[in-house]
Amino acid sequence: MTVQTQTKRTVAAIVNSVETLEGAGFLVRRPFPKINFSEFDPFLLLDELGPVNLKPGEAKGAPDHPHRGFETVSYVLDGRLEHKDSEGHAGLLNQGDVQWMTAGAGVVHSEMPESEFTRTGGRLHGIQLWVNLPQCDKMIPPRYQEIPATQIPLAQTEDGSVTVRVIAGEALGAKAVIETRTPIIYLHFTLRPGATIIQSVPKEYNAFAYVLEGFGLFGTQQERGDDGQMVIFAQDGDSVAITNPANAQKNLDLLLIAGVPLNEPVVRYGPFVMNTEAEIMQAIEDYRNGRMGRIHA
Ligand code: CO
Repeated sequence: MTVQTQTKRTVAAIVNSVETLEGAGFLVRRPFPKINFSEFDPFLLLDELGPVNLKPGEAKGAPDHPHRGFETVSYVLDGRLEHKDSEGHAGLLNQGDVQWMTAGAGVVHSEMPESEFTRTGGRLHGIQLWVNLPQCDKMIPPRYQEIPATQIPLAQTEDGSVTVRVIAGEALGAKAVIETRTPIIYLHFTLRPGATIIQSVPKEYNAFAYVLEGFGLFGTQQERGDDGQMVIFAQDGDSVAITNPANAQKNLDLLLIAGVPLNEPVVRYGPFVMNTEAEIMQAIEDYRNGRMGRIHA
């Protein structure tokens, strides 16, 4: 047996989130897109909703809106969200559930807090990631993969100091059940104080971590990344190292997200992401003419 030595990546940048209002007026933390940082190929957006403790009646969502040309990945950490779409599809996302929606040629959908959750209030925390589709997949029929928390593979190191939920890709011997159009890694790691994880991320992938809670030391330089920060790894190795310092007061909770860049032109206009201006004009026209459908109450 040959043991391949992995080269660890350095950290290229630490990016702060901006706070912005989305949908009907809920606050998100967004590392990108923002001015001078519009995408991280093949990813188009990362939003962290909350964590926030909502009073009764306070929860807001995103009423009917379209998407074309990419995928939206919703991951609920706390609370309950419901969605409806133009294909007649509806569902409820509970804590730990993932919805990987391939919008492809187009859907119109709503993403709202569940009505009973809205009535009672409670803690809401969620993540939305936008994954770009390659040119050849932009107009495929829409597809949903809805994976309940119980079916998201969960793995641990032998000593229990690191736990991972494998949403896409592979980690600690566990393999994701979600299928992606291009190679994607989406891992939710929890590291106890004093724990280190070395995760393999092939060299051709663009990779970043997003810190949900606590802080960590990243890459060969052991750069500090805090709650709400995005840590961008350089493309200079085939693994990443992440540590929660031994003197930390909290677990380190983070997402490790990586994908092979598409290296294609990106033209985006709100909820449409295509390769050319003409395709954007077409998307606007198709939406206006109801060719992406509409939601039936
Ligand atoms: Co949406």
